[in-house]
Amino acid sequence: MNNTFGHRLKVTTFGASHAGEVGIMLEGIPKGIRLTADMFAADLDRRRPSLRGETTRHEADIPTIEGLDTDSRTADTPIRITFRNDNTRTADYSHLASHPRPSHADLVQRRKYGQEYNLAGGGMASGRMTVALVAAGVVAKQIIKDMSFSTRLAEVSGDSNSDHFETIIADVARRGDSVGGVIECRVSGVLPLLGEPFFDSAESVIAHILFSIPAVKGVEFGDGFEGTKRLGSERNDRIIDSEGHTLTNNEGGINGGITNGNDIHLRVAIKPTPSITLAQDTYNFEHKSIEPLTIGGRHDACIARRATVVVEAAVAIALADLYLRTL
Ligand SMILES: Cc1cc2nc3c(=O)[nH]c(=O)nc-3n(C[C@H](O)[C@H](O)[C@H](O)COP(=O)(O)O)c2cc1C
Repeated sequence: MNNTFGHRLKVTTFGASHAGEVGIMLEGIPKGIRLTADMFAADLDRRRPSLRGETTRHEADIPTIEGLDTDSRTADTPIRITFRNDNTRTADYSHLASHPRPSHADLVQRRKYGQEYNLAGGGMASGRMTVALVAAGVVAKQIIKDMSFSTRLAEVSGDSNSDHFETIIADVARRGDSVGGVIECRVSGVLPLLGEPFFDSAESVIAHILFSIPAVKGVEFGDGFEGTKRLGSERNDRIIDSEGHTLTNNEGGINGGITNGNDIHLRVAIKPTPSITLAQDTYNFEHKSIEPLTIGGRHDACIARRATVVVEAAVAIALADLYLRTL
């Protein structure tokens, strides 16, 4: 099982949704970065469930950071950030091994890792794992301090009016259903010339970590799929100065796999939450027949809102890794 991402900044996730803890190990962080638990609070809060229609599993999410020197600074050693899982209700998931959830990872995880694999809470495909990614993102942002991030929930169920989001999510949750969403991330102050021309293109590295986030089904840079509908003459980004700044940014800040000095702009598609309370037909392996499944447990009716900061963290980790490769 490979749970490591990155070349120079390596992040390795461990734990599971209903294990004692979830966490992340970071290797390759430059020396001397001061890290204290309070620096993580703002980003961890953005991931915390708070609205109607979001999971009622509340965890304290206080990071334990190991591997720092006596002045709370990074040294030449890996650091380890862990979070306790205290609010688990494992019994809610006991039937999923024989009656797996449609569109969730229950079936593939069981088939790949065997009967002993703990599916409770979604195991390693749980949103819970992303608390550790957010923490790693906080560290990554300290490495690329000149870059600033602006990430928002851009669409819920195809609606881009943010005044509607809360109502859409609450309504769908009341009906026992779920919705998807689109997250938009813009990075300013991006150093030019990050990324390699082919397999480790900046897009590939960023997309690699974004597709590791559970429920991500699409990533587009710049005008992505929409851009295919336009003429080159309308769409081409005119270069307006010697630094390579462009009049428009349809490329999303990357050309030939290399950052071009304009903002990185990307959008991420998050599917509707698979765990819904409406009954759905799915195969029951014990009874060898298709039967309606009613899912218990505590779930988000729209993963996308809580995943906004997770997307930002993932982009920060990828950019910090690309940046460290240039040193
Ligand atoms: C922040 C966050 C919260 C999530 N919350 C839920 C949830 O409440 N219920 C659920 O079934 N899945 C939840 N997921 C997980 C995904 O639904 C699950 O891992 C997925 O179905 C596997 O997705 P994939 O096939 O796109 O990889 C969450 C994911 C994230 C990132």
